[in-house]
Amino acid sequence: MHPDPNPVLSPSADWWRSAVFYQIYIRSFADGNGDGVGDLAGIRSRLPYLADLGVDALWITPFYPSPMADHGYDVADPRDVEPVFGDLAQFDTLLTEAHAVGLRVTIDLVPNHSSHDHEWFQAALAAAPGSPERARYFFRDGRGPDGAEPPNNWPSIFGGPAWSRVPDGEWYLHIFASEQPDLNFTNPEVVADLEATMRFWLDRGVDGFRIDVAHGMAKPDGLPDMVLLEGVGLLDDHGAGDLRFDQDDVHVVHRRIRAVLDAYPGTMAVGEVWVSDDARLAQYLRPDELQLAFNFKLLTAEWAAGDLRDAVTHSLAAVAGTPAPACWVLSNHDRPRHVTRYGGGELGLRRARAAALLQLALPGAVYLYNGDELGMPDVDLPDEALQDPIWERSGHAERGRDACRVPMPWSGTEPSYGFSSRADTWLPMPEGWAALTAAGQAADATSIQSLYRAALALRTTSPLFGGEALDWLPAPDGCLAFRRPGGLVCLVNVSGAPVPLPEGQVLLASADLGDGTLPDDTAVWLAA
Ligand code: GLC
Repeated sequence: MHPDPNPVLSPSADWWRSAVFYQIYIRSFADGNGDGVGDLAGIRSRLPYLADLGVDALWITPFYPSPMADHGYDVADPRDVEPVFGDLAQFDTLLTEAHAVGLRVTIDLVPNHSSHDHEWFQAALAAAPGSPERARYFFRDGRGPDGAEPPNNWPSIFGGPAWSRVPDGEWYLHIFASEQPDLNFTNPEVVADLEATMRFWLDRGVDGFRIDVAHGMAKPDGLPDMVLLEGVGLLDDHGAGDLRFDQDDVHVVHRRIRAVLDAYPGTMAVGEVWVSDDARLAQYLRPDELQLAFNFKLLTAEWAAGDLRDAVTHSLAAVAGTPAPACWVLSNHDRPRHVTRYGGGELGLRRARAAALLQLALPGAVYLYNGDELGMPDVDLPDEALQDPIWERSGHAERGRDACRVPMPWSGTEPSYGFSSRADTWLPMPEGWAALTAAGQAADATSIQSLYRAALALRTTSPLFGGEALDWLPAPDGCLAFRRPGGLVCLVNVSGAPVPLPEGQVLLASADLGDGTLPDDTAVWLAA
């Protein structure tokens, strides 16, 4: 059963092609019950804000029962709601209310691994080596004398080996934390369970999924050693020699996922595919696989004209020849926020404003991360506040991702700035954020939030944004300029000095324009 399409939502089956999605990192968006952790009730209370901001759809990060070893990406039951976040009735109400204000709702699907608390893993631990219970995961004998060495040399993304030993001597595989055992997708039960999870949420009316580690889910036969690269960060792409990811059989799983979605017209999936090779990435976007794949090229690009232009060119090249549009991301809950990446402070904010106009001018789908529209920076947290498993697993060598996960400031002058009814939140919020709050910025026509509102409104209503192509225009050194078929021209100046403004009617600029010039670190939209 698929619920009747809501009349407020556009009836188009491929609404996602140019949609602006808003990522809600649920712990940090809004706290409805005063425990210092964001939840579904909090999201409900902020739906008017999101509708008014002008986004089209939400992506809500995992809210399923979880012991929170990786803040919800360790799922103990994929078909229920974690009490910290609410319950199923609360989710259903949120879905109805979001649809009523014209917002589609997509949710995270975490197929690659379960929590160690999942009943399957507990059954696997209780069962003997070679049992069907263990065959849902990757249990293997170790190497070396007494099998005391891990079965292969794979590192965990979060630091340390990707294997942990159980009391009877076998080892199990976990590409992420030891509390996140990898599931074995060659086991039909595992695939069937994923399909059951998808149908469970689709039947409730969700509009789609964000697929976690969508380039995982397949491991090479025999689990051979991989090529280890020196100096590559835990979260960085290890390239073609990395046998943990992007194995050909992962596409078998994507075809199964797509077949489920196809029975629910108007639904979609976006994959978290950390694959930098354009041709390999394109394989995930074949007609019977994912509708969208995040494009992390913009998220990893330096703030320099050549890098930004390469990011755009490669992203478009990756989707050319596939049915998919590009899908642009500047920040998410796993990487430093772009205000900080671009230099922080006034400079980082100025560049983030320009980046917003770049991102929103590009053809395809866009993902905003909660707080992008406020120009939120990363926060320097004290050691004792850190919660990301990366901090412990790396032996305190890497601080992890908490800095980009600090709760959103909504109003007021003191922590927790309307995020929660209490001052102390799951990650502490800093002093001095009064000017950053959503309410404060709404009242300021020059704020980055006001810029986002204006940009989103134009993007939705103006025919200038029509067409999925992009033509590069000649531009001064250190600048990017392109034109959309509908007539929009976007010029971004990263040259270090003002450049002449091109011909055309200025629609929006990320900073005050000079007299006939575009200042450094500024972007402008023109009708030309
Ligand atoms: C994805 C998520 C990240 C999580 C990991 C393991 O990369 O975005 O937050 O830690 O998968 O599930």
